[in-house]
Amino acid sequence: MDGCFDTMHYGHANALRQARACGDKLLVGVVNDAEIRRCKGPPVCDERERVEAVEACKWVDGVITDVPYEVTDAFTDELFAKHEVDYVIHGDDPCLLPDGSDAYAYPKRIGRYKEIKRTEGVSTTDIVGRLLRMGARAAGEEVKEEEAKEATFCTTSARIAQFGTNAGVPTDAKVVYVHGAFDVFNRGHIDLLRQAKTRGDFVLVGVHADAEVRARRGAEHPVLNEKERALSVLACRYADEVVIGAPAMITNDLLTTFNVKVVIAEDDEPYAVGGVDVNALAVERGLYERVPRRHDCSVLGVAKRIMENRAEF
Ligand code: CTP
Repeated sequence: MDGCFDTMHYGHANALRQARACGDKLLVGVVNDAEIRRCKGPPVCDERERVEAVEACKWVDGVITDVPYEVTDAFTDELFAKHEVDYVIHGDDPCLLPDGSDAYAYPKRIGRYKEIKRTEGVSTTDIVGRLLRMGARAAGEEVKEEEAKEATFCTTSARIAQFGTNAGVPTDAKVVYVHGAFDVFNRGHIDLLRQAKTRGDFVLVGVHADAEVRARRGAEHPVLNEKERALSVLACRYADEVVIGAPAMITNDLLTTFNVKVVIAEDDEPYAVGGVDVNALAVERGLYERVPRRHDCSVLGVAKRIMENRAEF
């Protein structure tokens, strides 16, 4: 499967999940920045970020970088020969080249094309719109009501089960708990979960409730609702399970129900609710470990990037 995978979201992850189920091994081609700029306009995330996001997806076995936007017959033949690809896969949305022709005409003609169902209700364009409105509100600009579309995505238990491991939290595992907003999933989140995975056997991720994120960060947050945020976390290969709509405050119930052995957090300012550090109980019980923040990627930072290039999006 090839694509841009810009501001990688759960629609992309669901495409990769379905693609993986079509065979034994999923190879993903990520289009380079120059090609996206030429064919669609500037990408929000650069190639390195987009590749990292795809690589972190648990249904992906390998990534090919620098692929062209226009899939030529010669490039398709190279995929078949050099990379031992059997089928090319794409979502069931029409994918047309600038001349109006079908981008996948060749693999379709020779019977080596498969289609998966596109996930409606989410797209890079939609997320860019939400980020723009959030950035505008944060900058004190007025946002017209008709433009202010709320994140109303409703997920089903089936979709959550498809993304999850269906295993539950094992009783004998060293369970690492890490919690936060995980809004507009990015390389900072991936790195945090990667670090969590090295501290134990099972990574349980608390995805904070929408009201919690709103109270902490302001009325324009979160960009994605808690179900959307949870799906992105679940698609990550370093996460084993999520608590959807988790409280910010670590409680005894949470630690004992899930048999948590370690709580990790990035080495920022302590996050306090009502003057109490949310991790206070974990600190008291000697379960708390700090890990370095190695990437500075805030939601507002991504929104600013988009606002700077607003005219081009
Ligand atoms: N895809 C999907 N559901 C979405 C968005 C994308 O199934 N909501 C699939 C596309 O059909 C494609 C793959 O994900 O097979 C990669 O898509 P991409 O090249 O990133 O582009 P778009 O289809 O333009 O995705 P978006 O609209 O989010 O930019």
